[in-house]
Amino acid sequence: MKLWSGRFDKNTDQLVDELNASITFDQRLFREDITGSMAHAKMLGKQGIIAVEESEKIIEGLKGILEDMEAGKIPFLISDEDIHMCVEAELTRRIGDTGKRLHTARSRNDQVALDFRMYMKNQVLEIRALLLPLIEVLVKMAENNLDTIMPAYTHLQRAQPSTFAHYMMSYANMLKRDVLRLEDCYERMDEMPLGCGALTGTTYPIDRQFVAEQLGFARVCENSLDGVSDRDYCVEILSALSIIMMHLSRFSEEIIMWCSWEFKFIELDDAYSTGSSIMPQKKNPDIAELVRGKTGRVYGSLMGFLTIMKALPLAYNKDMQEDKEQVFDAVDTVKACLPVFTAMIDTMTLNKENMRNAASRGFINATDCADYMVKKGLPFRDAYTVVGKLVNYCINNGKTLESLSMDEYKSFSDIFEDDVYHAIDLETCVAMRLSQGGPSKESVQAQIASIKKFLAEKE
Ligand code: ARG
Repeated sequence: MKLWSGRFDKNTDQLVDELNASITFDQRLFREDITGSMAHAKMLGKQGIIAVEESEKIIEGLKGILEDMEAGKIPFLISDEDIHMCVEAELTRRIGDTGKRLHTARSRNDQVALDFRMYMKNQVLEIRALLLPLIEVLVKMAENNLDTIMPAYTHLQRAQPSTFAHYMMSYANMLKRDVLRLEDCYERMDEMPLGCGALTGTTYPIDRQFVAEQLGFARVCENSLDGVSDRDYCVEILSALSIIMMHLSRFSEEIIMWCSWEFKFIELDDAYSTGSSIMPQKKNPDIAELVRGKTGRVYGSLMGFLTIMKALPLAYNKDMQEDKEQVFDAVDTVKACLPVFTAMIDTMTLNKENMRNAASRGFINATDCADYMVKKGLPFRDAYTVVGKLVNYCINNGKTLESLSMDEYKSFSDIFEDDVYHAIDLETCVAMRLSQGGPSKESVQAQIASIKKFLAEKE
């Protein structure tokens, strides 16, 4: 019999029970539900709302349920509707009528708000902890490749010379922002909703501050209507997770390209690659492709969630039961991707020669050639025009800027002298990019030092 059946003359349809039940997915909140109930029971006893002995009996009963649920001994049944009713019903089965006092001054609305927030606070910390090792791997790769020259691209066309270290540090900086975003979400969501009641609080003399302290919350949420119906933190977390996946997906795209025979800048470890069922020569970057693909799934959760919440009047509406699966799926996806992605990056090997060769073609030093002329007194726009003509000449005659003779250079401008060859040398081009944030060894070392300081503060 349903615990709310008193008001009804007949039972709900079986199909309704199936549609209505959330226990198939909210069972994963059992720890939070029980811990939250223990704190609530303790507060009820302390405030004299129920007798202290009753409060203690309830807490003992809940402890036993927690142990048995951890051990998988308690079945989660559709007939229990959701995890909150399941725990309460089990408690009453175990300790009798005292169990019925637990729900005093509480509603499932503030209960689910509490459970979900507690669960998500932990998830945010777990995901944050998975980002840090990835940043560490990128820093290590950067430290080992300060002199590994590769082309940097715009429009996927070779643009200017850079280093593999510079590339790795760009991703490290993206992921650093992801860590900060999660911390920011955490700080804002750290508010305790229990005590909002169904929507307008309660007439019992509860102590919300005490419950917040018991459960490790920084604050109590300030308005009960808002407290039971706020799911902003889920939207924020889903946004942060979408951005993490967007970063991993962009990185995956580069990995996939760099693995191709057209680039062959890197080789993935066998442990993080897969083969083809028909083409014996294939070694495929499936992990990177899966991460790229799963990004769509996390974006989908964000859009799904926003759509569920759109136009919901205050306060709780059953639509909000649809909140959990979206978020659970996104959290599971990110948690599944990050460690594998980190290991894939950590174990990949570089083909430095191919990177260097790719940087030697495509007139990647054309800007440096123009800058050389500027340093000799020509205005940049004029220098740009001369080098444009030089490049055109090279293309038509199958030459590179490095292979032009001094006579050929002179035929374009008197400014050119023998030192041009040094100025357009790839090593020089990288070494001279000393501007803050650039690819020169010194600049990248400064970037590494900054991220290392960030990581040290996070340990
Ligand atoms: N299972 C519900 C959920 O996930 C719990 C809250 C139910 N509240 C209610 N008034 N029906 O949202």
